[in-house]
Parts: sequence; C-alpha cells; structure tokens
Amino acid sequence: MAPRAPTLPIASGNKLLLRALGGTACERPPFWLMRQAGRYLPEYRAVRGTVASFMELCLTPELAVEVTLQPVRRFAMDGAILFSDILVVPYGLGQSVSFEEGHGPVLEPLRTPADFAKLTMERLVPTLEPVYEAIRLLRRKLPAETALIGFVGAPWTLAAYMIEGGSSRDFAEVKGWAYREPESFARLIDLLIDATALHLSTQIAAGAEVVQIFDSWAGVLPDDQLRRWGLEPTREVVRRVKTAHPDVPVIVFPRGVGAFYLDYAQGTGANALSLDTSVPIDWAAQALQPHVVLQGNLDPRLLVVGGEPLLRAIRRILGRFGHGRFVFNLGHGVLPPTPLEHVALLAATIRDWKS
Ligand code: CP3
Repeated sequence: MAPRAPTLPIASGNKLLLRALGGTACERPPFWLMRQAGRYLPEYRAVRGTVASFMELCLTPELAVEVTLQPVRRFAMDGAILFSDILVVPYGLGQSVSFEEGHGPVLEPLRTPADFAKLTMERLVPTLEPVYEAIRLLRRKLPAETALIGFVGAPWTLAAYMIEGGSSRDFAEVKGWAYREPESFARLIDLLIDATALHLSTQIAAGAEVVQIFDSWAGVLPDDQLRRWGLEPTREVVRRVKTAHPDVPVIVFPRGVGAFYLDYAQGTGANALSLDTSVPIDWAAQALQPHVVLQGNLDPRLLVVGGEPLLRAIRRILGRFGHGRFVFNLGHGVLPPTPLEHVALLAATIRDWKS
C-alpha cells in the first residue's frame, strides 16, 4: 500500500478550483482546459522535438513537469493537469503502446482472453513511478493558487484502445467482444478497475489535489451496456478512491452519453461532471447542477474560430452556469490549430466576469 498523503479538506484553502469543486459558488468560476498542454503551444512542440517518442515525454519527470507548467505560465489557469496520457495504464500493465505521427496511438491489440492473461498489475506502479515523481516535483513548482489535477482513463475507454489496438471509427472489436462474451470481457474490466483505482490513488498520494476520469468513448454504447461497462465500473473506481481519499474531488467525463448524464450525476459519487459540447446547457443547469458541480462545455472549435462567436459562446455558458457550482472548461480537448490569442481572450473574459 502506498502511504496515505495528508489531503486538503475540499472546501478550504484559497485555491479557487478546490473551492468550486467542494460545492462553493465562487466570485468567478475557476477554469482549466482539457489538453491545455500540447501541440497548439510552440514551447510544447520544441520540447516534443527533443525526445524520440511521446511515451518518453510522459515518463521523463523533468520534461513532463515542464510541459505541464507551460500553459499555466502563459494563461494562469486555476488548474494544472499533469502531462501524461490515459494509455500509460495499458503500458504499465505490460501491453506495447506507441504513438505514431499522424496515426495516433498504436497498441498491440488484445484479441483473446489469453492475450490479457499476460497483463500484470505488479508492474504498474513501478513502471509509472516517473509519473508520480512528476507530481511530487509539480507540487513544489506550481504557483500557490494553482491546483494540480491527476487523471486516468475509465475502464471502458481503456478497453476500447486495448482491444481495437488504437483509435476506431466503429468499435467493432471491443463491442463484438463485450456483446458476445460478457464474462471474459468483465474480467478485463475488473482488471482495469483495479489498475485505474490504484493509479489514481498513487497519484493522490504523490500530491494530486483533484482527479478526473476520462470516459471519452462512453457515448458509443446503448444504455444497458453503458450502465454495465461505463457507469458501474466508474462508480467502483470513484468508490475506491473516495474510501482512501475522501477529501479529494473527483470529476467524471462520460463523453457523449446524452440524457444518461443524469444517471451519472445521481449514480457515481463523483463531485463533478464534465459536460461534452452537445449537452444542452439549459437542461444541464436545471437537471444536473442541483446534484453535482458542472464543468464544461465550450466547443473547442470556437476556440479556433475566435472573435465574436467565441465571446458570445463564453458569455452564454457563464450566464447559464456561472452563478452556481461551476468550473469553466471545454467540451473536449484543445485542438492543435488553436491560436494562442484566442486562449488569452478566453482567460481574460472569464477573469473579468462578474456573477
Ligand atoms: O494537457 C492535458 O490535457 C494533459 C495531457 C493529456 C494528453 N492526453 C496528452 C497528449 C491528457 C489528459 C490526455 C488524455 C487522453 N489521451 C484521452 C482522453 C481525453 C480525450 O481526448 O478524449 C485520450 C482518448 C487519449 C489517447 C490519445 N493520446 C490519443 C487518441 C492521442 C492521439 C491524438 C492526438 O491528439 O495526437 C494521444 C496523444 C497525445 N496525448 C498528445 C498529447 C499532447 C499528442 C501527441 C504528440 O504530441 O505527439
């Protein structure tokens, strides 16, 4: 067992993000952006050019620290998300993972239960030690007002990459397996519940103050399957993290689940839900905000477009959610062609907003 770190009571201290996630409606909403570190930043591209592989960037603490800090130096977000990737977990379990230019991630796909019998939990924490070291270094280097966010991929989304062997259009292999052979698929999901709960708890023990669970592909499942492979495993991961670290806020991002967001709001034990761009904001404010803190949901494409369309959309979101318990974010990650000035405009607009 990793030693238990002292954790901050959720609503105390002066970090705006922690206050908002603790349920306080703040003087202005805190903000951070999914994929706030990455290719839209020239200083990220410069660091990326010095390493042979993306995994090397994730597993070299000094470099991971540097690219985590880059967006915070420019835009002073209220949260710094650790620079890493959801696919470090399959890598730590012993699956081969690489990232190829223009192709996204490439994994040696799991195709039979015998393939995943080779995965082992024992190697996970030792292999990911550089990630935890980056967290310890970040806690010393971040500005006093910036909260450090750790993260993990949800079991379903990880299973999708692990079985498809990368990104997919139709999820034919992973759905085929889950529908045809739910018993053996459940064994993989159970292993991923263990692995993701352990990876999150070890990040918190190292100093992560908030954690987010990314279920990027939850939205491709029909409702009964979503409950079984999306919601229930996520609820179990949240339960384990909360048992060990009750004061650390947990954000869940079940992208694309539509009206099922209500089940996530009532049924996972998460402190906050991250809304994708398609969620209607009036419905979310009425149906979801009474149950959980909300986060989201600006279309990342508007951050590429900029100008009046961007300003109108930011003000509309702030007007609808900003008076309640709310964290401003995008509905998905920052896109590589995003101009820096548009991110600066977003930061200034949120900072100047009065509730
Ligand atoms: O700034 C941050 O948000 C922290 C870092 C972060 C990355 N990936 C860095 C990254 C986070 C939180 C992620 C999460 C992640 N990774 C998700 C969940 C969120 C989502 O986007 O739905 C998923 C599905 C992945 C898997 C992944 N990693 C893909 C599909 C790709 C290729 C697509 C792409 O954007 O290139 C990656 C690679 C990756 N992860 C990059 C970055 C900055 C780009 C790689 C590079 O610089 O060469």
